Amino acid sequence: MTDKQLILGMGLIDGYGGLHGAWRAPHVDPGAYADVDATVRHARAAERGKFTFLFTPDFPAVRGDVEHSTISNLMDPLIQLSAVARETTNIGFVATGSTTFQEPFNTARQFKALDVLSHGRAGWNAVTTSDPAVAANYGRPVADRDERYRRAHEAIRIVQALWGSWQQDAWVKDQEANRFIDPSKLRPINLKGRYLASRGPLAIPPSEQGQPVVFTAGGPSPHLLSIAGRYASGFIAEVWTIEEARAQRELVRNAAREAGRDPDEIKYIPGIITTVAPTVRDGLDRRLKHAGDVIEARLPHLGAMLGIRIRPDRYDEPLTPEQLASAHASPRDPRSSNTLAVARQGWSPRDVLAHGVIDFHPTVVGPGQLHADHLQEWFEAGAADGFWVTPDIYEDGVDAFVDEVVPILQRRGIYPTEYPGTTLRANLGVPHQYGLDPRITETASAVG
Ligand SMILES: Cc1cc2nc3c(=O)[nH]c(=O)nc-3n(C[C@H](O)[C@H](O)[C@H](O)COP(=O)(O)O)c2cc1C
Repeated sequence: MTDKQLILGMGLIDGYGGLHGAWRAPHVDPGAYADVDATVRHARAAERGKFTFLFTPDFPAVRGDVEHSTISNLMDPLIQLSAVARETTNIGFVATGSTTFQEPFNTARQFKALDVLSHGRAGWNAVTTSDPAVAANYGRPVADRDERYRRAHEAIRIVQALWGSWQQDAWVKDQEANRFIDPSKLRPINLKGRYLASRGPLAIPPSEQGQPVVFTAGGPSPHLLSIAGRYASGFIAEVWTIEEARAQRELVRNAAREAGRDPDEIKYIPGIITTVAPTVRDGLDRRLKHAGDVIEARLPHLGAMLGIRIRPDRYDEPLTPEQLASAHASPRDPRSSNTLAVARQGWSPRDVLAHGVIDFHPTVVGPGQLHADHLQEWFEAGAADGFWVTPDIYEDGVDAFVDEVVPILQRRGIYPTEYPGTTLRANLGVPHQYGLDPRITETASAVG
């Protein structure tokens, strides 16, 4: 039993779930992408499980094989989350917004409006989008990393300054005195950088949490750490092993320390995909039923990943002792050590892949206890402050997680039984902030 409790967010990556083929499951409405009622249903299920936030990635473009897979995005995260806010009470919304392609004035305005209308539940995942398809939609080339990050510093500072430009006691609302606002308390920010500028003020009052909470996402490059350390209260990660996560979390915490903040002010949140089922076998069968074709197509890669030859007529037989003896984890692929560990449990190549070993996050398949053990192990090893969970199929996978995993975490004393508060800040356990953080001084890469 420990005092510290883990945080859960739910990845809303599209209308369907984290499993390839989720959209084709018979119990799923294939039109859920455009059905806000489906998004509301999934959000309410997560809220029943006391999830702190919904996380929406954003790549505004048509990408990938949309003939057979989904458009892996919400239509427009902020607009859909505004609708979800009306149907929920406590769950927060960490929506991704690009520092590369969005004007900071628009970002400041839209996120703060969501924050006010949701009574203090909004967060901004500030990312330096580098996807060529997104760049093409904005009619610009992908700028180099240095430029994208210099711009990101400027964008975040302008956004935060705009959020604080309506002073907290500016809104007088005195009908008898005929005084709506004290105009001296709406202050221009007059920020001008190399790429971006804004005069302000922003015409939006404070929310119950003051202003949205800033997150960022990505790998631990020095560029991203300089953003995370200065501005972020949450770091959304993609990481496959406990060791890698621990090292990354330390880098993120150190970056906050170096910026003059308390490292506990930034929550390190890796991703996980979940298939909750009565047994591991049932979970593998569920995944094979809905994603069997994708798994079949990946089978030839498994041998290469483990450095062995696997004959196609042996895809449904456990690896032989000789194969296991010569198999080795590739140092170049962080997923291969787990892949080898699963193969050593005696599963066939098809079942090894059905474990999700080469999916885009660590995947847990099986009864609730296995999921709770995974989360607890990472949490107690200092590899995570919480997780963003993407259930395999939202339609029944969120409820399964909430009914089968959450109660175990609660009984173990590592997960709250009630929301600590009503705002995203309170539920994350991060400090109040209004406007710019006075501890973060301008740097050569920030707004002058
Ligand atoms: C877990 C995770 C989620 C991300 N979500 C988004 C996203 O929604 N939109 C986006 O444009 N980039 C997203 N990114 C990409 C990064 O923010 C960043 O733009 C990318 O890694 C390239 O950055 P770099 O120039 O530092 O390499 C995500 C990265 C990770 C690891």
